[in-house]
Amino acid sequence: MIETGKVSAQILRPRRAGSGNNATLILALAFLASALLPLAVRAEDPPNPVCTACHNEDGNSVVPDYPKIAGLDVAYFTKQIADFKKFKRVSEIMGPIATQIADSEIELLAAYYSKQKRISGVVTDQNLAAKGLMIYAEGIVDNAVPACGGCHGEKGEGANNFPRLAGQHASYTNTQLLNFKNQVRNNDARKVMRAIAMRMTEQDMQAVSEYITSLKGE
Ligand code: HEC
Ligand code: HEC
Repeated sequence: MIETGKVSAQILRPRRAGSGNNATLILALAFLASALLPLAVRAEDPPNPVCTACHNEDGNSVVPDYPKIAGLDVAYFTKQIADFKKFKRVSEIMGPIATQIADSEIELLAAYYSKQKRISGVVTDQNLAAKGLMIYAEGIVDNAVPACGGCHGEKGEGANNFPRLAGQHASYTNTQLLNFKNQVRNNDARKVMRAIAMRMTEQDMQAVSEYITSLKGE
């Protein structure tokens, strides 16, 4: 971290009258400005560099198997880390990592990622996404599947313990739905997501996942 006060004091100290020194000063100030630019672009660094490897600096992972965690609500984020730590939510990758996160660090991590803006994905199959929109907005009446928007927000923005889904990688969303259905993921309170996923076909899951990636959450 650059301490602006100290750096500028050092640069300004040898200032004397004369055009040569003015040119040096201008160059020095230009250098200082370019050194400070990255700080202006990103106000805060990620609290833990370990997370960046998979979830990216701003929480918008570029690898489809790693979820985007940007914009997750503090409550949901905190619950997931706690669940991973207790192996209540089982993941061979995230489980061991979560056990390395100190309880005192969780609040800082949750606050940082909740403030990052989620970047949405790109739909590759428009027909599938159109079917997904119907499921998301209206549910599947015949199979008693409720509208996803009822809990996750009309635009996928989420709130509290209902996670933001908007913009998530389709393959991650699809995997989580399969995990709920097959009871590989069992950390949902009152089995709410397991009950829903069990009533969905694999094609329903693919469709809704394809639609969700296009949502902007606003
Ligand atoms: C080696 C890659 C890797 C690293 C490093 C990593 N994660 Fe993860 N993370 C994953 C994977 C994979 C999942 C999905 C696990 C699953 O399938 O349930 C995940 C899931 C999560 C989730 C749940 C997301 C959701 O939408 O439910 C959170 C929160 C999270 N990670 C936070 C972190 C934090 C904080 C760090 C740094 C301390 C971190 N991760 C480091 C791979 C990683
Ligand atoms: C009655 C409320 C409710 C409805 C309706 C609902 N969900 Fe959920 N969903 C939840 C809750 C609560 C969680 C968080 C579970 C936990 O604590 O891990 C969740 C989690 C999820 C996750 C995991 C997100 C992540 O980041 O890992 C996905 C994916 C998901 N829901 C998709 C859907 C889809 C698709 C639908 C519609 C077919 C739907 N949900 C309908 C309540 C609901």
